[in-house]
Amino acid sequence: MKAVHCLNGPNLNLLGSREPELYGSATLDSIAADLAAVCAARGIVLHFRQSNHEGDLVDWVQDAGRKGEPIILNAGAYTHTSIALQDAIRAAKAKVIEVHLSNVHAREDFRRHSYISPVAQGVILGFGALSYRLALDACIALAMASES
Ligand code: DQA
Repeated sequence: MKAVHCLNGPNLNLLGSREPELYGSATLDSIAADLAAVCAARGIVLHFRQSNHEGDLVDWVQDAGRKGEPIILNAGAYTHTSIALQDAIRAAKAKVIEVHLSNVHAREDFRRHSYISPVAQGVILGFGALSYRLALDACIALAMASES
């Protein structure tokens, strides 16, 4: 695996100050730094992005899928609403690991449905910032398995 994309949806730019009792105290920058350190040690290029706009996420999914590069995706609230993101993942045949900081199944009912899960390779949720690290480990393990 030469590159990995970590794409973050709406309001995740506010991590650290946003409902820390749900999402923890780590900022998105600190999560990016953690992933970047792991990637640098392995010679993997990390494309770490955040947008509050659905279309940006669709563009980035298409781009990663075109290049055959895996995606760690926390689509935020678009997880529960975005047919466009599901379509983009399907169309681009993108390899996606869905990530959430919080355990969405232990929250409001509307968070229990994900448009991403049916087209994801797997889902990691509920471990706070560690969810991202676990997703990166999974990405690396899957890539090694498919390369050997
Ligand atoms: C989230 C869970 C979503 O339901 C919520 O809308 C978010 C964050 C999480 O990481 O726990 O924005 O994706």
